[in-house]
Amino acid sequence: MSEHSEKIIILDFGSQTTQLIARRIREQKVYSEIHPYNLSLDRLQAMQPSGIVLSGGPASVYDHDAPISDPGLFELGIPVLGICYGAQLMMQQLGGRVEKAEHREFGKAELDILYTGGIFAGMETAPAKYQVWMSHGDRVEEAAPGFVATATSGHSPFAALRHESKPFVAVQFHPEVAHTLIGTDVLRNFIFGLCNCHPEWTMHSFIDTTIKKIQAKVGGGQVICALSGGVDSSVTAALVHRAIGDQLTCIYVNNGLMRTGETESVLRFFRQKTHLRVIDVDATTYFLERLKGVVDPEEKRKRIGYGFIEIFEKEARELGAVKYLAQGTLYPDVIESVVFHGKAPIKSHHNVGGLPERMQLDLIEPLRELFKDEVRELGLELGLPEEAIFRQPFPGPGLGIRIMGEVSAERLFILRQADVIVLEEMKNSGWYRKVWQSFAVLLPIQTVGVMGDGRTYENVIALRCVDSRDAMTADWSRLPYDLLGRISNRIINEVRGVNRVVYDISSKPPSTIEWE
Ligand code: XMP
Repeated sequence: MSEHSEKIIILDFGSQTTQLIARRIREQKVYSEIHPYNLSLDRLQAMQPSGIVLSGGPASVYDHDAPISDPGLFELGIPVLGICYGAQLMMQQLGGRVEKAEHREFGKAELDILYTGGIFAGMETAPAKYQVWMSHGDRVEEAAPGFVATATSGHSPFAALRHESKPFVAVQFHPEVAHTLIGTDVLRNFIFGLCNCHPEWTMHSFIDTTIKKIQAKVGGGQVICALSGGVDSSVTAALVHRAIGDQLTCIYVNNGLMRTGETESVLRFFRQKTHLRVIDVDATTYFLERLKGVVDPEEKRKRIGYGFIEIFEKEARELGAVKYLAQGTLYPDVIESVVFHGKAPIKSHHNVGGLPERMQLDLIEPLRELFKDEVRELGLELGLPEEAIFRQPFPGPGLGIRIMGEVSAERLFILRQADVIVLEEMKNSGWYRKVWQSFAVLLPIQTVGVMGDGRTYENVIALRCVDSRDAMTADWSRLPYDLLGRISNRIINEVRGVNRVVYDISSKPPSTIEWE
């Protein structure tokens, strides 16, 4: 689907670091895409890659069900880099020998370079040593015909190899991980030296190509987009708007579960600064009605989710002939993940679950080739304010899942005030951007306190701040005591109905980031 003129195709054999290979290459301003290892030769050829990378993976090449890519790819005249399992597969397919090593090599290792051309251009031979990161149980015992070793390590006589006349290189170590200190240089030498790519894939060029793609797909059609104020939907809206202007209508549904001032600031920005057409629906009463008496967390989520779809659908129908739905699906959501000893499922991800099918809308997903940090860069390039770009994630069900038990206007009122204080203090202390998320949770259990001469019997606020890379795992943030103290004091002094603040020190797993 991509029209990027130069690209590196990565065939994924299931390594945990495959995505990193793509990122490292893109950081060099060369476009790179990940595909499953069994991509057909026809499709591979049709993509006209400038280079192919065979990723690492957990299997052994001599397993009877080992994942095997089409060996015909070595006949295409395209440079190939094999990494770890990919290197072993290359050797095996081209006539070398791979066996289980006596010693597993895991973690940091020292590399002795024997040949300073090709992927090792600019480096030195022994006594110079280079730190690399290894993770393998098998190793190459015999190079395939035409290949010679270009580096060795303690346990790998063939830590790197090259073909003497063809553009094929193999490395036992992982150049994509940060612990391989020469990793970027190795990848640069491959993509610029062997593949002859040019560093031309920039956000600027991405915007140009994407705008043309959107225009070609949409023609004169109408597009809708659910705007939440989050990074992904904001960047999607801004990009699609740049492509087709007023053919895009955004729908912003205020479910009454937003943070203080959130709705106003999102609408103000998009209407005043970008002239985007935004329909805003204040459905506060509707959602509060639906949530009355509901205490089960899953039931709350469902009611909020379905409620959103209902309202969105109604507004969209009133617009008339809408053909497309724009949404901010990101690359990690669409990569086909390779799973062995089972089926290879394609992760499906719909930001507005179920809508496209129900409304028979075609999807426009302009961010589906991008990683989160690239989306942020794109947002800045499109002129979105830093405040919108570096916003912490906020869940679709909003404050609804940060009030334990029943959601009510009174409880929302209390939580919002506490939430503002948390946000203010995190921002003022410079911690807001250092953590993944920081927020208040309302525990409507009454505990005893003392205020002046009187006894109080009021709610608890739990403070949740976590560090995380991708929300799959998280640890509680080690915030300074002073900051914790300030947040607690302010909440207890300024928010009526709260007399106790506690700090959540659970990690995920086994806890989760949100409390419901
Ligand atoms: P948990 O609580 O599962 O959260 O550790 C992981 C990340 O996902 C966010 N989250 C949601 N986001 N709709 C969303 O759009 C949801 O229903 C939802 N639930 C959790 C959460 O804030 C965290 O970043």
